[in-house]
Amino acid sequence: MLDALLTMDPLTIGLGVFGLLFLLKQICTPRNSPPGPLGYPVVGNFGQFAIANRTATFRKLRRTYGDVFRLRIGSCNMVVINGYDTLREAFIKHGDTLSDRPNDIIFKLLSSNGKGIVASTGEFWKSTRTFSLGALREFGFGKRSLETKIQQEIAIFLNILADKNGEAFYLGAIAQISVANIICSIVFGQRHDHDDEEFKRLLHMLEQELVLSTKASIAIFFPFLRYLPGDVTQLDATVENSGKIQSHLQDQIDQHRATFDEENTKDFIDAFLKEQIAQGESDVLCDENLRITLTNLYVAGTETTATTIKWAILFLIHYPHVQTKLRKEIGDVVGFGRFPSMNDKPEMVYTEACIHELLRMGNIAPFSLLHGVKENTKLNGYTLRKGDTLIPNLDSVMFDESLFEDPKTFNPERFIGDDGKLNGKERYVIAFGLGRRICVGESLSRMEIFLFLTSLVQRFKLLPEDEDNLPTLEPVVTLTNSPQEFKFKAIKLK
Ligand code: HEM
Repeated sequence: MLDALLTMDPLTIGLGVFGLLFLLKQICTPRNSPPGPLGYPVVGNFGQFAIANRTATFRKLRRTYGDVFRLRIGSCNMVVINGYDTLREAFIKHGDTLSDRPNDIIFKLLSSNGKGIVASTGEFWKSTRTFSLGALREFGFGKRSLETKIQQEIAIFLNILADKNGEAFYLGAIAQISVANIICSIVFGQRHDHDDEEFKRLLHMLEQELVLSTKASIAIFFPFLRYLPGDVTQLDATVENSGKIQSHLQDQIDQHRATFDEENTKDFIDAFLKEQIAQGESDVLCDENLRITLTNLYVAGTETTATTIKWAILFLIHYPHVQTKLRKEIGDVVGFGRFPSMNDKPEMVYTEACIHELLRMGNIAPFSLLHGVKENTKLNGYTLRKGDTLIPNLDSVMFDESLFEDPKTFNPERFIGDDGKLNGKERYVIAFGLGRRICVGESLSRMEIFLFLTSLVQRFKLLPEDEDNLPTLEPVVTLTNSPQEFKFKAIKLK
């Protein structure tokens, strides 16, 4: 035996040892770990994680392994959490141990080592999130003044649509600019014209932050790839793009500091500077944390809502009877002489049902954001271990056939009971996540979606470019699901 080993070449021995270690790791899964498919050497279950068909793969794995299953990818142990009850158990009941973010390279690089809201954890996250929510409320969230600002942006948005004179066109960045202007007015106290090229460049960089970080996420699992020549992981490009955004934001902070007036704070940045002066500089109250928080609000607050508006237009083109019914309710409750307002919402059950269905079918963040495990935690009889990375599979609820019959059909009526009121199924639409990390911008986003959708349908009939050839409903998949570019016609109603 020893003789045979001595005659083997070093490469064969190396591969043999490597294979053996891998097998041992697969077999010696710690006791009580969630079940999951066996993987290949080195890459583990990378195939099952491929982003293009991740929703379909996870649906299949859930049928085989149940609500909690494990995937091993490179150096990472991922646990996918599925189903309404199990997700609630994990992120609400065990919120104290399962609300961290994983300690991965993308989160670290894009957040100056865990600054801001999205990537931070522990007390730092709590302070930054609490301060931010307070400042966002002070400058708009839930206020009448914000509704007026949104209506002004919508009026400009609708004028652009009217200028197309019923010709088919791509929405392009129009929705993105309108939505970005709303968050800009809260955060920076200013808006930008739709033809402002510098603003468009900034929005492009923010969009790239999502696109590049999706590509770069391979480095989370195989960190050594980072050191190969040619930026194969796109990490350098991600860091460069993020650096440009940071420097733009620092200019904004410097300008605010130069004109700061304690008696007249106008926006989120002023509120932060006021706190910084009152409490003194600290880890939380420093420019770096402000820059990353601003990036979080900008990126999370623009792409998500703008993408939802694009899905709304696409679904309304595919389901014209929904559009007609929606317009009828708007006519009955609001009429056609004034813009819809949030005061109308309680009387508009069909519209509310449409928005729930839009958030469900749009499914724009099917896997939410990754969570980390702070301490070993029992879930459904399995042990989630400190250091594991968790994927909250929101798709597993919103497309669950036992909750939503024929889940791939856009059907707002599924949310309306025999008494004509919402029937409670809307609680299963968990597009904004759940638990302590639930989306910071949910109330703003819901307000924007209601006002955009109702104003649009009130004034325009939306039609496809070619009735016999409808645009696809298959999404472009990055960290979010967005519609593929499509042309449509907006016919102004008399
Ligand atoms: C349709 C629109 C939106 C959807 C579907 C959405 C969805 C989500 C989801 C699924 C999460 C992850 C929750 C988790 O980690 O468990 C999240 C987090 C977050 N969202 Fe949103 N979001 C939307 C709009 C917005 C807006 C308008 C803003 C900002 C104004 C925003 C700011 C944030 C922030 C800062 C976080 C991180 C929260 C934390 O880590 O504590 N989002 N969002």
